Amino acid sequence: MNLRPLVRLASGLALAALVARGSQATAEGPAPNEIIISHTSDDRGDLAPCGCSSGQKGGIARRAAFIDSTRALNPHVLLLSTGNLFDVSEQYQVDRTMFLMRTMKQLGYHTVGVAGMDLGWGIRFYQDSVASAGLLPVSANLADRATHQLLFKPWNIEDVAGVRVGIFSVAAHSIEFEPSRHIANSDTAVEVLDPAAAARRAVEELRPQCDVLVGILNMGNHDADTLAGKLQGLDVALVGATDPNMLRTGLRAGTAMLVSDGVRGQYMSRIRVALQGKKVSRVTAEVDPLDDTWPEVESYANSRKAFEDALNERLSKIQRDQGLKTTLSRGTDHYVGNEACARCHVEAHNIWNGTKHAHAFAILKRKKKDAMPDCVPCHVTGFQKPGGYVDADNTGLQQVDGTRHNLQNVQCEACHGMATQHDTGDPDYRARARAACKTCHTPEQSPNFKFEEAWARIAH
Ligand code: HEC
Ligand code: HEC
Ligand code: HEC
Ligand code: HEC
Repeated sequence: MNLRPLVRLASGLALAALVARGSQATAEGPAPNEIIISHTSDDRGDLAPCGCSSGQKGGIARRAAFIDSTRALNPHVLLLSTGNLFDVSEQYQVDRTMFLMRTMKQLGYHTVGVAGMDLGWGIRFYQDSVASAGLLPVSANLADRATHQLLFKPWNIEDVAGVRVGIFSVAAHSIEFEPSRHIANSDTAVEVLDPAAAARRAVEELRPQCDVLVGILNMGNHDADTLAGKLQGLDVALVGATDPNMLRTGLRAGTAMLVSDGVRGQYMSRIRVALQGKKVSRVTAEVDPLDDTWPEVESYANSRKAFEDALNERLSKIQRDQGLKTTLSRGTDHYVGNEACARCHVEAHNIWNGTKHAHAFAILKRKKKDAMPDCVPCHVTGFQKPGGYVDADNTGLQQVDGTRHNLQNVQCEACHGMATQHDTGDPDYRARARAACKTCHTPEQSPNFKFEEAWARIAH
């Protein structure tokens, strides 16, 4: 059934009333004949699409709308995440993930799986973070290498309107799951116990205590399919760990329905578990893209914006302080800014000035994203390279004469390379400049990019 019209018709208040009435009714009444399991995967701290082009997916405010519409259909919803809530690179992403986890708690998530990237900042750090957000991580096969003790609760049983749903998670050893690669100050070394044995034990222990049994299999579609096929008694298997290939209507694997909903929280599932008495009679799955046909729930959009604006403000201050201290050592190749090129290439400069490349930074300022390390590099020139963009106020490294060049926007050198490497007889300059496009016009940011068409719009 297509649920979208419901979202558009019902106001937030009416939905809230529906939800409240629904759960009250069943607290006293008989067990429902259906519950819905809805899940996301691999968020890595993403709160919203970047907005670089239309049709991008994901974001917590749309997710809120999806959840509201699901609850309006049936209030007995269990929300799950397979894991990879964290991304492992920069500190600001930790702050973003903390905000994401608190928002997920607010949306109604509780039990979450544990995947490789979650542990990149250290085990204790992860345990403390999820606990402070009020989420409960489960993993039946991640152990302390020194003591061989499990690091997390192996599973959890959630009560959904009187239906007992058991949830466990297991993860496979993979390149991504090599915490030592990421953790500088590793507190605990992780041992990955055999996922198949751990899953079998979880099913044996949980089956007699539960009406519905869900396994989070953080190992990609192929291995999850193989494992689920061998587990007698599993009802739903959720695939996690950065597998972009989705199983959008599910796949039968043994007794389970195997569902895979892609990466970066851009899709969300609605898995309907029909019950007779309290026995599972049928499971059907549907995975939907969180695209712009979903409205953003205003309260979630507002709190996200407040958080992001404050984060940008904070990073901006740090960058300004650092930027002022940065100097350029004499003799290295570096960027100089487009004014230098304009002196000799007047015609090319005039044409460039009329393209959006010449104004690409303005949009980041307007959106208060001008200090975000995951936005700035493609909207400026020579980000963090010698002589390149440093920060919004003092762009360009300080030159020997004390001046700074403005390296905002996508300037000549973003495609042609550093001015100090300018070579009037370079036979490869075309191929090099053409190759630059794809570093910014990626499938994520610029899905419809075709060189010939694009070049025609900026030809000089
Ligand atoms: C990998 C490079 C890259 C990153 C990272 C990136 N952008 Fe972009 N952005 C682009 C490109 C390329 C375009 C032009 C896309 C097109 O027209 O196909 C664009 C376009 C945009 C536009 C549309 C501008 C207009 O005139 O309509 C906005 C808004 C935008 N980006 C904001 C952001 C924000 C906010 C972030 C960070 C969350 C970000 N970008 C990160 C490359 C990037
Ligand atoms: C002092 C004058 C001068 C400046 C400054 C200058 N160029 Fe050039 N450029 C030339 C000349 C002369 C040529 C060769 C003749 C032609 O194709 O116009 C050339 C050629 C080029 C070419 C064609 C490639 C080639 O090898 O023939 C590119 C691309 C180019 N310049 C980019 C730039 C960029 C980018 C800047 C700024 C960083 C810049 N130029 C600054 C004089 C200059
Ligand atoms: C978005 C990338 C991009 C930017 C920005 C850019 N160029 Fe180019 N430029 C190219 C490409 C690609 C070519 C070669 C196109 C082709 O294959 O013929 C080119 C060609 C040129 C040429 C050689 C033209 C000829 O007659 O052969 C010059 C000179 C040049 N650019 C100068 C500049 C200057 C100066 C600027 C800044 C004012 C600039 N470009 C900005 C991508 C860019
Ligand atoms: C450093 C990153 C970067 C590189 C390299 C880059 N672009 Fe862009 N491009 C952008 C961004 C960012 C925008 C969106 C700017 C905006 O709308 O504010 C954009 C916009 C465009 C647009 C829409 C411009 C308009 O005026 O309508 C075209 C066309 C385009 N790029 C073509 C190219 C081509 C062709 C190349 C390679 C020769 C290239 N770009 C290289 C970042 C880049």
